[in-house]
Amino acid sequence: MRRILFVDDEPRVLQGLARTMRNLRDVWQMDYVDSGEKALALFDQSPYDAIVSDMRMPVMTGAELLRKVCDLYPQTLRVILSGQSDKQAILKSLECTHRYHAKPCDAESIVQVLNDAFETLFSGATILRAKLTGLRNLPYRMDTGTHIKNLCSTESPAPADLTKIVAQDVALSIRLLQLANSSFFGPPGTVADISSAVMLLGADGVSQVNEIVQQRQLEDGSCTPPTQDFAQNIGEHSYKVALAAARIARAENCSDASVGEAFTAGILHDAGRLALMACEPTSYEQMLIECKGTGWDIEQVERHLFGFDHGDAGRYLLSLLGISKSVVDAATFHHRPRELNASEFSAAAAVHVADSTLRGITNFIDCANDHSIDVDYLEHIGCADRLSLWQQKTIEELPV
Ligand SMILES: [Fe+2]
Ligand SMILES: [Fe+2]
Repeated sequence: MRRILFVDDEPRVLQGLARTMRNLRDVWQMDYVDSGEKALALFDQSPYDAIVSDMRMPVMTGAELLRKVCDLYPQTLRVILSGQSDKQAILKSLECTHRYHAKPCDAESIVQVLNDAFETLFSGATILRAKLTGLRNLPYRMDTGTHIKNLCSTESPAPADLTKIVAQDVALSIRLLQLANSSFFGPPGTVADISSAVMLLGADGVSQVNEIVQQRQLEDGSCTPPTQDFAQNIGEHSYKVALAAARIARAENCSDASVGEAFTAGILHDAGRLALMACEPTSYEQMLIECKGTGWDIEQVERHLFGFDHGDAGRYLLSLLGISKSVVDAATFHHRPRELNASEFSAAAAVHVADSTLRGITNFIDCANDHSIDVDYLEHIGCADRLSLWQQKTIEELPV
């Protein structure tokens, strides 16, 4: 039985939660406490699968509590409940919070958030949970900070210019999408387009999130040259894939929303690589050097070394943070799209073809590996005859 701990200093809120969650008593074991100290004491007796904490509490804030839980019990799902006015606190807790939920909230929507996140937490390999649930930061490009600062120092930065900078940094894009997909901005999990996330957060919001991500990178000491080179390499490659996937979607007469989704899926498709680099920097770096020298298949080597590949890592991490399903699917299956069991065109098809084509022609870190296109899959979704056009779309207007 899943164990969940609710923490709120207001007895009225706790009582309300306990009352409305009562009908789930047979499914979940739920406890309720009114302070961070009491929460940690209960964790000490027996850790919970999830903690749902209020942000604003005396003595120990929700952010401080979740940071401690992340350090001591990294496999626990961490959810913050907060009001719109706690914006600064929300941003400061970004690295230790999986999901945000706006207050006041009804039990039904919390149950939905927990069920959705549990599906990821308990799906498949326990090794994914062990390695990735406690992950705080992904490698971020320090040059992104300078570009954003320069742009935001102008009077009113154009959202399109801001999106262009954000889209070249995978770690920052993920954080913006995580926030945009929280219930602060509407139904959770519905913002599948990075430009919509940028619009929702505004130039100030983007700039603040950027500063927090940058600061965390400096604090955790991951600004070393190999990690920076890796973040830059993945950022540049993913941006090319994103632009190409959007052109492919446009060639298929997709709506603007679907074009944005294909673009965003392109940005995030290799997020799992950043996750692997963040968890196991030394072995992952060594593995990349060896794969480049030998031509070994990178996904096979990842599975051999870590027990999962970067598609699996991307799925786990992005789902846990509440990124929309279509984008997560495209990231998960970009090397093996037939496993998606799709019957028609989607962002996954555009990303698969764009990524494979670009890896075959550009000097990417795994250019020596298999980059074949799954023609059977394209046939299955009725798009095999579109391949040469899509490849043409992929290589036109390549950014330098
Ligand atoms: Fe990949
Ligand atoms: Fe890729």
